[in-house]
Amino acid sequence: MVLKKLTNEKDLKLCVVMVGLPARGKSFISQKIVRYLSWLSINCKCFNVGNYRRVLGIDNPKYGFFDFDNLSSYDIRENALKLAFEDMLSWFDDAIDNKVAIIDATNSTRERRNWIIKNCEKNNVHPMFLESWCDDPETIMANVKDIAITSPDYDGMDEKSAEDDFMKRIENYQNVYSTLNTTDDKDITFVKLINISHEIIINKIQTYLQSRIVFYVMNIRIKPKCIWLSRHGESIYNVEQKIGGDSSLSERGLKYASKLKSLIKENVKNNEQDLSVWTSTLTRTKETAQYLPYSKLEWKALDELDAGVCDGMTYEEIEEIYPEDFKARDEDKYEYRYRGGESYRDVVIRLEPVIMELERQENVLIITHQAVLRCIYAYFMNVPKEESPWVSIPLHTLIKLEPRAYGTKVTRIKANIPAVSTYKEKGTSHVGESSSAKGSHNLLVNAPEIN
Ligand code: F6P
Ligand code: PEP
Repeated sequence: MVLKKLTNEKDLKLCVVMVGLPARGKSFISQKIVRYLSWLSINCKCFNVGNYRRVLGIDNPKYGFFDFDNLSSYDIRENALKLAFEDMLSWFDDAIDNKVAIIDATNSTRERRNWIIKNCEKNNVHPMFLESWCDDPETIMANVKDIAITSPDYDGMDEKSAEDDFMKRIENYQNVYSTLNTTDDKDITFVKLINISHEIIINKIQTYLQSRIVFYVMNIRIKPKCIWLSRHGESIYNVEQKIGGDSSLSERGLKYASKLKSLIKENVKNNEQDLSVWTSTLTRTKETAQYLPYSKLEWKALDELDAGVCDGMTYEEIEEIYPEDFKARDEDKYEYRYRGGESYRDVVIRLEPVIMELERQENVLIITHQAVLRCIYAYFMNVPKEESPWVSIPLHTLIKLEPRAYGTKVTRIKANIPAVSTYKEKGTSHVGESSSAKGSHNLLVNAPEIN
């Protein structure tokens, strides 16, 4: 099968077709791509074939259902794929901006993949195959255990029986599986991840969007880690209710800086001892990090959202001097760009390299600013972009994020050192903690159904 040559990237509808045996992390990778592209405002949706099979009434299948010689169940599985595919096409038709779909299934035979290629071409969708190939017994076993507990397929079954059944399901797929290779599949666009990021084979990547997805998946690691987020301690500008600037910490802010080390130590597990601290280049974050005994790195990309001509003003002053801007910002806070400054969207774009490096790193503590932390938090917690500028990130509170296979666990640790609030409610210039924003998203989010 040869793929059609792409001409106009602007109109491209891309279908990422997952390939891989069960328990190779396909759903995990799919969900991460959806989260990453959505964060970058690229509309992306995952279509999980297992979910469609459950819609067809097969919700607790035993391993025999996945025997490729079992013709009646084979038909049901093909129908599940067709339903997923049709839904994908309608989703592409729904909006011109719906750009990237992911077909999350095993897609383990060349015959099935050729069906997908043919039907993509008929509908002007470009397929890109993404295989997760893995023979590391530890990774596979960890995935099997995870799936045995979380998959709706095993609802009501004890863990051990679910694991045994799932291992036999894998064997059924192994009997027919053909992996992608640069001889038989030389004409199709594909990426093959071998043992996650140990080795990567890339074939016929043609567009910028495809190469971004490739670059992203190349940086994914699966080792458990912790990401700690903190705003700088209370600053003199915070006390004066001024935004921006480069002021030092207040006395209470310095207290937070001296407490930060013990706050981390009290909440660290043994394997998280090794920590890197990233700050912005501004005085208040560096002062907050000053007592921490870890390696430190300053990132310009972590500097606070640039308020342009409003830098150094209070919200009341902005409302008085630039009333139209003040209103416009409340109406669309994500898109609003300060005169001579930045919008939240601008901040997300400059944070992309930080996110990429975070994916590669192990335990990191990021000490930065209110708007920047909202953007980073939105990436990990899958917060829709319109909501992200309104997330509550109070001063003197350490946030611990633990990215897991199917979501991120978040813990908020208060330092119990008083600080002013810098939360500006919508529609007013007053600051005060938003009760609606408080505590939102503090759970394990983004838990998809899995194959
Ligand atoms: O008030 C602290 C601060 O970090 C300012 O420097 C910055 O302009 C502001 O928060 C960002 O928050 P918002 O987008 O809600 O105005
Ligand atoms: C499934 O039915 O769970 C499934 C994903 O099927 P396949 O990958 O075989 O289409």
